Amino acid sequence: TDLYAVVGDPIAHSKSPTIHRLFAEQTGQDMVYEAIRIDSDQTTFDHEMAIFKMQGYKGINITVPYKLNAFEYADELTPRAQQAHAVNTFVFQEDGRVLGDNTDGVGLMNDITQNAAFEISGKSVLILGAGGAVQGILEPLLALNPSLVHIANRTAERALKLGERFSSQCPITASGWQDIPEQPFDLIINGTSASLDNKLPPISTAVICQNSLVYDMMYGKEPTIFMNWAKQAQPNCQVRDGLGMLVGQAAEAFFLWRGIRPETQRVIEFIRKL
Ligand code: ATR
Repeated sequence: TDLYAVVGDPIAHSKSPTIHRLFAEQTGQDMVYEAIRIDSDQTTFDHEMAIFKMQGYKGINITVPYKLNAFEYADELTPRAQQAHAVNTFVFQEDGRVLGDNTDGVGLMNDITQNAAFEISGKSVLILGAGGAVQGILEPLLALNPSLVHIANRTAERALKLGERFSSQCPITASGWQDIPEQPFDLIINGTSASLDNKLPPISTAVICQNSLVYDMMYGKEPTIFMNWAKQAQPNCQVRDGLGMLVGQAAEAFFLWRGIRPETQRVIEFIRKL
């Protein structure tokens, strides 16, 4: 039996053990996956990881607030982890070295393109937020060739900096809330943490049209305040919360560890009912 775990703080309500158990059952893998809370600075984080390694763990997922600690700890980084400047998955390799990857962006893209059946190529994209969560999705998003990307953030400067960091074939613009182009976007992604506080980014509903896909990276038992706002403005638009992204990033980590890509749609539906 191979051992895996997710570490974070808080971690008690993590869905990851259930998600990976379902993946393992689905694909016949002999593995155990636990959720473990650690509280630490970089030194303690490093120490905890050394213990996992000694105990023979094969891989670790890292969630809030340790993705940057994980980035620092990794011996090697995948290109997408390097771009994201954050690590959510470790592979403890045979040679003893720790590979750090970031599967958040690919998880989101797979959920959008496969489960929501939305093709990103040629589409206009509005991204709200410029924090860690958004940093991780830009590279995988741009790889799918949208026609244009606008990044808007409460602190405009952070959006501008982020836009400058990513070169791409498509135009990337950035602004504060006030200067978002007043045009409908095909895809709108809320990557702010505002929904957590039940707050809305103060933006015009003119950015949504009836063909838009409106995606909130947060999820909860009920639709988020952002999803409700979008539905009210455009009852025909498609809204989606971040549960598909959560399952998607897990599927990509599972693939990295086990070499098999699990089916995610049924797992999303199962977790939704819990
Ligand atoms: P995360 O890793 O979740 O992205 P983060 O790096 O702290 O966390 O980023 C949080 C993001 O949500 C930022 O874009 C932040 O805007 P600022 O850069 O202006 O701080 C945004 N955010 C947080 N609370 C918000 C709120 N109440 N309204 C709008 N945006 C908010």
